[in-house]
Amino acid sequence: MIKFAVIVLLATMAFAKPGGDAPCPGCPFTLTSEEDVARVTIILNESLAAVEEPHYKLGKINAASEQAVGGNLYKINADLVDVNDKTKTCDIEILRAKEVTVSIKCADEDEVKKVHEFKDKQ
Ligand SMILES: *[C@@H]1O[C@H](CO)[C@@H](O)[C@H](O)[C@H]1NC(C)=O
Repeated sequence: MIKFAVIVLLATMAFAKPGGDAPCPGCPFTLTSEEDVARVTIILNESLAAVEEPHYKLGKINAASEQAVGGNLYKINADLVDVNDKTKTCDIEILRAKEVTVSIKCADEDEVKKVHEFKDKQ
């Protein structure tokens, strides 16, 4: 019985941290560390600047996840501030592959989808 419990524990640990944060290659993982949130803030700011119409500024990020899918896919829930200083809660997806594809869906608004170039080669 103890042997069984040890095996279960080891198996659980193996799934929890396979050398990174993703539960498996290609699985989404939540970005929670200060470092990751700072990184996704830069990425989001770059895309918000590239999307000129509608123009949004970042209020704050509520939640973010990253997934490796032939590029990096970021799914972000954030409060965005429009040109009238109105704050809206939005779901944003940013796929960074050869180009950056961004889609923004704010509460009570149509989805906006734009493709833009990388600002800095990374
Ligand atoms: C992102 O943009 C917001 C609003 O424009 C700004 O306050 C913040 O400093 C920017 N963050 C980074 C990391 O560039």
